[in-house]
Parts: sequence; C-alpha cells; structure tokens
Amino acid sequence: MQLLNTQALIQRPLLMVGGKGGVGKTTVSAALALLAARNGRRTLLVSTDPAHNLSDIFRRPIGDRVTPLTDCLSALEVDPECELDQYLESVRQQMLSFAPLNQRPALERQLKLVRHSPGAEEAALLERITKIIVNEQAYDLVVFDTAPTGHTLRLLHLPQTMAAWSRGLLARREKGGRLRSLFAHLGKNSGSNPIKSEDPGVTTGGGSEREQQLLAPLKEREQRYRKAAELLLDKTHSGFLFVMTAESLPLLETARAVKQLQSERVPVSGLVVNRLMPPEAADITFLRGIYRQQKQCMEKIADLFSGLPQRHLPLLGEGMEGLEGLERIADRLAAAPPAAELPVGH
Ligand SMILES: Nc1ncnc2c1ncn2[C@@H]1O[C@H](COP(=O)(O)OP(=O)(O)OP(=O)(O)O)[C@@H](O)[C@H]1O
Ligand SMILES: [Mg+2]
Repeated sequence: MQLLNTQALIQRPLLMVGGKGGVGKTTVSAALALLAARNGRRTLLVSTDPAHNLSDIFRRPIGDRVTPLTDCLSALEVDPECELDQYLESVRQQMLSFAPLNQRPALERQLKLVRHSPGAEEAALLERITKIIVNEQAYDLVVFDTAPTGHTLRLLHLPQTMAAWSRGLLARREKGGRLRSLFAHLGKNSGSNPIKSEDPGVTTGGGSEREQQLLAPLKEREQRYRKAAELLLDKTHSGFLFVMTAESLPLLETARAVKQLQSERVPVSGLVVNRLMPPEAADITFLRGIYRQQKQCMEKIADLFSGLPQRHLPLLGEGMEGLEGLERIADRLAAAPPAAELPVGH
C-alpha cells in the first residue's frame, strides 16, 4: 500500500473530502484542516452538509458565518436555506427594478414558488460553493467537508448547462430585439407606438443597457462556474480525498464514486480507511466476526484501490472531539503509522 502523504495533500489550495454517510468525513476534514493550520497555512474549513456538525466536533458554535477557531483556522457551516433567501432577495431586487408595475405581483408569486421548488436549495448551495472556490483569497487552503460526489459532479457539469441556458436567453433576447425594432419601425410609419411599457429599457431594442445589466449576473455566474470546474480539475490546485470504513456498503459506494470522479478527470488524491479494529479484536468473541469482515474488506480495498495512496485510522474509543481530540487525529494522519496500527490483513 502506498502511504498517503497528508503534508502534500494540504499544500494545494483546495481539498474536497467526501465519502458515504457516517464514515468519518467531518472528523477527517477537521483534523486535516487543523494539521494545515498547525503548519501555518491560513485554512478555512467549510461544511456543506445541511445537518452540520462542525460545531459539535469543535464543541463551539459556528454557523453560517466564518468563525475563527485557532490562529490560522476558521470554519463555516453553509446554511442552504439562508443562502437561498439571500439569493432570491438579490434576484427579487434586480427583477423588480426592471419589471413593469403590473407584472410585479406575478413576479413575487413566481419567486415564492421558486423558494419551494425542488433543487432550489442545492442551487443556492452551489452558488456559495463556487464563490468560495473562485473568489476566496484570504486563505491558503479551503477544506470542504462534503457529500460523496453529488456536488462535485454537479459543479463540473453545470458550466455547460449554464452556457446552453444563457445562449438560449441571449438568442431569445436578440429575437425580441429584432421584433421590437420591427414594431418600432412600423409604429413610426403608422404614427403610433405598439409597445407600451413602463420600462424604457424594453422599448429601446436589443442590447439596451438595461438588458445588458440583466444579463451581466448570468454571464458572471457562467464564468464563475466555469472557473470553479477548471480549478476542481486542476491537480496542482485541488485534491479529492475519500473517507470510508472497511465495510461492504461504503466499499461499493466509494468504488463507484472514485471511478466516476476519475472518469471526469477529477484528481482523486487518496483514501482514508477509518475505524479499523486492532488485531486483538480477533481474540474477543463478541468482536471476532466484525474483525474478520474488516479483514476481508481490507483485502478488497487493497485490490480495488491499489493505485490510490491511503491512510488507515484505528477505531478509537473516545476523545475525538474538541481541539485536543482533533489534534490527536491530526497527529495520526500526519505520522507514519506505528506497527501496532498497521491495517488488518497486512
Ligand atoms: N476513528 C474513529 N473511531 C471511533 N469513532 C470515530 C472515528 N472516526 C469518527 N468516529 C465517530 O463516528 C461518528 C461519525 O463521524 P463523522 O461525523 O466524522 O462522520 P461523517 O462521515 O461526517 O458523518 P455524516 O455523513 O453524518 O456527516 C462520530 O461520532 C465520530 O466521532
Ligand atoms: Mg459530517
């Protein structure tokens, strides 16, 4: 097994930590962020999971604003609902300034519907994630404690979708512009203006300043998503770390996720196999079965992930939380494992 170099892992500006539910993603992300901060890297740890537990693990209130935890480490629990409200409010302000008075109630209704439509919170979450990935300059390293693959894959595919969408809008805008000039032309000839609107921008034909203003955020968003995807795929900038336990379901899910990300050219940097039982477990009747299963699973892991550098963390009894507990895990992730902690099956 090739040992994962955690020092190298925290040198790049972006680290995405993923894995199946409950395998130790938050614990490992927090410990790695702490390790980086200990090395003097200004680090931001971001949780994108709606059921946040960075606060629990650090035993400090964190929430939806950047909270300093140590000299070099800050954390943030992105709240998708709050994100969506802010986002819709900005859209509302912008649209209201363009919409004719008689269309405003319909617009307000529409925005309320969007608030509760499926996928809206995820869209707002992706909005915040891309802003952090692309615009965050105050940190040397951003660690995302994330869901298995969903957001990452979505982040990679959205730029194309957005480009197609913006192109559609632009095409429609241009068509609208042509129609308007035609009407304006006819109106001039007939002495009447067929387009009546409270919005002067609408009557000035395609490419009015107001239309450009409306389209500007779309273009900015498309460019931001494109840049985020580019950074995620750049192996000098980003790394994706998987955390798993030595059990069959996490194994299957992680194998699928690794394959999928690799096929999209996402730089998968390594694997942390967590909660491994010590060999003494084989002597305890109650634990023998689980130990054997872990051992078999480790053989499969060695086979399936032979190309991926790994770290193994033992099952710990207690004391993983708070700065002290996380420091101990950071030590384990940074050091060469002592013989007693070598993975089962090796
Ligand atoms: N090596 C370990 N030994 C024992 N318990 C551990 C170990 N690593 C993590 N845990 C415990 O397992 C539980 C789940 O860990 P954690 O919250 O880090 O997982 P997660 O993958 O982030 O979960 P979720 O998918 O729910 O966000 C926690 O109670 C944590 O303290
Ligand atoms: Mg978690």
